[in-house]
Amino acid sequence: TRIDKSGYKHFMAKEIAEQPAVLADALNRYVDQDSISGPIADLDFTDTTGITLVACGTAFYACLTAKYWLEKLARIPVEVDIASEFRYREPPIAKGTTAIFVSQSGETADTLAALRYCAGKADRILSVVNVAESSIARESDVALPIHAGVEVGVASTKAFTCQLNVLLLLAIKAATDKGELDQGSRAKLLETMRALPGIFNVALDRDSVIETASAQIAEARDVLFLGRGLMYPLALEGALKLKEISYIHAEAYASGELKHGPIALIDKSVPVIVFAPRDSLFDKTVSNMQEVMARGGKVVLVTDAAGAQQAGSDTWKTIILPEVDEVVAPLLYALPAQLIAYHAAVAKGTDVDQPRNLAKSVTVE
Ligand code: G6P
Repeated sequence: TRIDKSGYKHFMAKEIAEQPAVLADALNRYVDQDSISGPIADLDFTDTTGITLVACGTAFYACLTAKYWLEKLARIPVEVDIASEFRYREPPIAKGTTAIFVSQSGETADTLAALRYCAGKADRILSVVNVAESSIARESDVALPIHAGVEVGVASTKAFTCQLNVLLLLAIKAATDKGELDQGSRAKLLETMRALPGIFNVALDRDSVIETASAQIAEARDVLFLGRGLMYPLALEGALKLKEISYIHAEAYASGELKHGPIALIDKSVPVIVFAPRDSLFDKTVSNMQEVMARGGKVVLVTDAAGAQQAGSDTWKTIILPEVDEVVAPLLYALPAQLIAYHAAVAKGTDVDQPRNLAKSVTVE
């Protein structure tokens, strides 16, 4: 099949806009009413005592997010690693470990080598892939397709949210097997996930606010991203996206690390993008934000209506998203992370779909 831009200026824009549809499709394949069906339903986590997640790039940030989910919902200890580090460190793999490899292409050399290292050591090798007939899928005991469809833009977008989608379903299954999630709570969580594509569409409609803010962010030389808890991996992903396609230097920190270094960089030329839905950690993040503003930093707060109200009007810009349950917030907050990078890159006139020096699939070391 021929893939075209269907009227969008870039594949990246098209792939961002496709997210509600592909997420809904993937959920239909993995969820049946109140329970998980398909290949995830066949996995049993009862005897799993540890999970190791390994990937590169954007997929690694999906793994970091999954660590929060798996530990919080299923109470299983999780290790997360970058494939190029994991493969040469040759870590001990304890009995009872399930190893999970996440890769859009399924061909990333380091991730594949990490998988091969785990063969025969881990109890079970799972992969979360977009390309179902890839090397990583073939060499796993079970390959879970994310059903994002072909992704052309070098900067990963819909593959990231579809990876998160499958990883959250895995966490829900693991939590169920471990007796940590009763039927009612599971039904509620799955319902929340099913509502997400609709909410995503509402958020997509607010694109023009993000576009305006991004045009100004594009004038900065350096940008900081902050987030706490589930928003920390999101901050890392936001900084990666911005670097990849707009070539603006960006860094991400866990909000609580602000005073351990990055605060020294803050002045009125540095936009600080803060991902903070009004969740259980919101107050902590607001106080970090105030530290930034007290030093003249320009805060771009990405939050919901309740968060915007509580934060007050001293921010440089506020991007308001619909309110969602905090467990699924990473999927929704991926959208502004992607759109900020996209619009900043368009404002700078870079080659959005084919950024310099980068490859879609890194099959050599
Ligand atoms: C490259 C791509 C990234 C991707 C990473 C991992 O760097 O440009 O978008 O996140 O590889 O790729 P994978 O196919 O393993 O997810």
